[in-house]
Amino acid sequence: MRVTVIGTGYVGTVTGVCLSYLGHHVTCIDVDAEKIGRLQRGDIPIYEPGLAELLRLAASRGGIDFSTEFKTAIAASDVVFIAVGTPSLPSGEANLSYLESAARSIGASMDASRRRVVVNKSTVPVGSGNLVEALIREGVREHNSDFPGAIRFSVASNPEFLREGSAIADSLYPERIVLGAEDDETLGILRELYRPLIEQRFDPPPFSKRPAGLASVTLIETSLTSAETIKYSANAFLAMKIGFANEIANICERVGADATQVMTGIGLDSRIGPKFLNAGIGWGGSCFGKDVLSLLHTASEYGYQARLLEATLAVNRAQRQLMIQKLQEKLFILKGRTIALLGLSFKPETDDLRDAPSLQIAERLLQMGARVSAYDPIAMEACKLQHPELKIQYCASALEAVRGAHAVVLITEWAEFRNLDLAEVAARAARPILIDGRNFFSPEAACKAGLDYSGIGRAALKAVPAPLPG
Ligand SMILES: NC(=O)c1ccc[n+]([C@@H]2O[C@H](COP(=O)([O-])OP(=O)(O)OC[C@H]3O[C@@H](n4cnc5c(N)ncnc54)[C@H](O)[C@@H]3O)[C@@H](O)[C@H]2O)c1
Repeated sequence: MRVTVIGTGYVGTVTGVCLSYLGHHVTCIDVDAEKIGRLQRGDIPIYEPGLAELLRLAASRGGIDFSTEFKTAIAASDVVFIAVGTPSLPSGEANLSYLESAARSIGASMDASRRRVVVNKSTVPVGSGNLVEALIREGVREHNSDFPGAIRFSVASNPEFLREGSAIADSLYPERIVLGAEDDETLGILRELYRPLIEQRFDPPPFSKRPAGLASVTLIETSLTSAETIKYSANAFLAMKIGFANEIANICERVGADATQVMTGIGLDSRIGPKFLNAGIGWGGSCFGKDVLSLLHTASEYGYQARLLEATLAVNRAQRQLMIQKLQEKLFILKGRTIALLGLSFKPETDDLRDAPSLQIAERLLQMGARVSAYDPIAMEACKLQHPELKIQYCASALEAVRGAHAVVLITEWAEFRNLDLAEVAARAARPILIDGRNFFSPEAACKAGLDYSGIGRAALKAVPAPLPG
């Protein structure tokens, strides 16, 4: 099929590259000419493992190109995906201006040569499918005033569930595909588009093996409204689940229980499941916060107060503040102290800093007069560029960041920190204090290395000074 993807961010680029790898011819469009220029040169503007390699493979399969020009691509396409950003407005409502602009551009570019399906992949509030349809019609009327009735299209919702950092595997081997549409013809076209994925009829790329036993992917066909609600509900549930683990961890700390053991104990119950139960500094990223806020806003428009969603946001906010409290408990005064942050991105394997806990923690520490040093394997350039207001001292390695620090805070659980020589951390720091914001290190190992260790929902352990010789 011929496919256009509008928006070349994390979702649009991965979607376009994967569909092309499956054999469809894809054109990815963005209004950001610099981004498109880089993509045309095969230079991926985001950090996503495997994406550059898959782009090279895709070019020789279905074929893929990148453009800032809508008309030619849309005129030639059977399916047009919208994958533009839907960030929060100050009110919590989703900002639909990018979506609206994309919909108008689609309408302006349509001709009568074929029937098209416009698929919304952006996460949008309930009812946005109808809005997109109305805006496309407006665009059509403005640019095809003679025969607007000859333009045939329908709108569908296909929410995206990929996780940054494992986006290729999530897209090629999804746990489900959700398609929301109001007519069978539209669903039929999308079923055909996704057939290679649904039936798993493609050779896996060498760097992303098919999970053992995966013979087909479950397809869920729903109304537009249900598909839109599925996406928000999934993110709200995941955010709430992490919030729950943090709430229990805070109780564990008070009663002397170990949150890691407690979560293992409850996660083995198949009704609960082990994932997303890691206590820590809370979730971040571009989706959870904005999607929970947007769902809350929708609920309030219908006169419903969604108390669980309100609590989910409040618990997460408090969890970030907990890092500052833990530092104050250890150091009393933060002014003039140096705090080393290990990791900046909102999670490992991405350079995405949107709503990253590191930003809020660094900002608060700087406001309080502390100095902040930091090391992140991938996200430092993005942080410098996107947050020049944060006067962080960026370091070339974790060991450089901890030199002279009065406390070290593990923010992002990058795999490379597994190999960190904790004895060297203790030796280089001015005070050997480690606050483990992800319960990543073994408290015993940290303690043995000479560190004063605190995790989240775990008993703090202090290194016992070695007995004096003689
Ligand atoms: N990032 C994720 O992990 C993820 C996962 C699932 C769903 N989503 C949802 O997918 C959507 C996109 O997210 P993202 O992270 O890829 O966003 P992003 O900000 O990385 O990318 C959006 C892109 O759209 C482009 N754009 C904006 N207006 C445009 C227009 N009128 N025409 C063409 N291009 C335009 C921007 O220039 C940008 O490159 C959001 O609704 C998000 O909630 C994101």
